[in-house]
Amino acid sequence: MIAIELDHVSRDFTAPDGRGYRALDDISLSVAAGSFLAIVGPSGCGKSTLLNLAAGLLTPSAGTVRVDGEPLTGLNRAATYMFQQDALLPWKTVRDNVALGLTLGGIPNADAHARAAAWLTRVGLDRFAAHYPSQLSGGMRKRVVMAQNWIIDRGIVLMDEPFSALDVHTRQQMESELLELWENTADVPCTAENAVVRQAARSPRSHKTIIFVTHDLEEAIALADEVVVLSAGPAARIVARHQVALERPRDLMELRTAPAFVDLYRALWAVLREEVVRSQRNMPHVRA
Ligand SMILES: Nc1ncnc2c1ncn2[C@@H]1O[C@H](COP(=O)(O)OP(=O)(O)OP(=O)(O)O)[C@@H](O)[C@H]1O
Ligand SMILES: [Mg+2]
Repeated sequence: MIAIELDHVSRDFTAPDGRGYRALDDISLSVAAGSFLAIVGPSGCGKSTLLNLAAGLLTPSAGTVRVDGEPLTGLNRAATYMFQQDALLPWKTVRDNVALGLTLGGIPNADAHARAAAWLTRVGLDRFAAHYPSQLSGGMRKRVVMAQNWIIDRGIVLMDEPFSALDVHTRQQMESELLELWENTADVPCTAENAVVRQAARSPRSHKTIIFVTHDLEEAIALADEVVVLSAGPAARIVARHQVALERPRDLMELRTAPAFVDLYRALWAVLREEVVRSQRNMPHVRA
């Protein structure tokens, strides 16, 4: 079963000087329900644009986005979105930030807070429920954002470079926590407010479907079932697509030196490297 599909999707923008710019060109991509897909590509190639199309925040200039087989019109209500910049509200406590999606969805405060408390325990932040975001470290903020997203409990999770601002150790820890969360969370359990989403999903799934954007190839291989490489823009296309045949659960501390990991890294880097070089060549300050 396909959770989300881009069928010959292109997206054009108008630059401030009025000229047209094709960001994505003829992208066809289907993501199996319950799988973890990573998308890599050089800076500015169109990764966030692709996620925005999957989220229904942007409409395609050509082609169709389908969710559970149905053309997407408006927001993708089967998905949550972890944006490139975290969007915690500075005037709300950690607990209120985590509960926000539920309270906005009409869940009574007491229920929303009880569930936020359970999620804060799950991400190891129960002692920080009354803190404000400015009182947290970068890694802790990311944990709050993960709890904020996963509490909403949709079948598809869109993640845009969620850990790129973190130091290498915190980042690896967050990657492990994400995998654990994904591997141990069945998709869309039976609660009243997601009945509509469950109905739309039509069949039970074991895991949520994740589309994870990163510029870091190591991170992509370490986490995903499949890695897709986008070319440098303009008119970015898919230039490689590889399955990651590494067993789960994965030990991220050890994985990166495993021969199968290194082989796949080499194969994908050969493609990505070309695109990174091409994207740097296209930048005006490099050309000058
Ligand atoms: N709203 C917009 N209006 C005009 N151009 C846009 C708009 N959004 C994106 N673009 C252009 O589309 C291209 C792709 O942008 P996008 O943000 O998707 O890239 P990205 O791969 O996510 O980059 P990064 O790795 O730096 O986050 C860029 O050239 C960008 O300038
Ligand atoms: Mg981006």
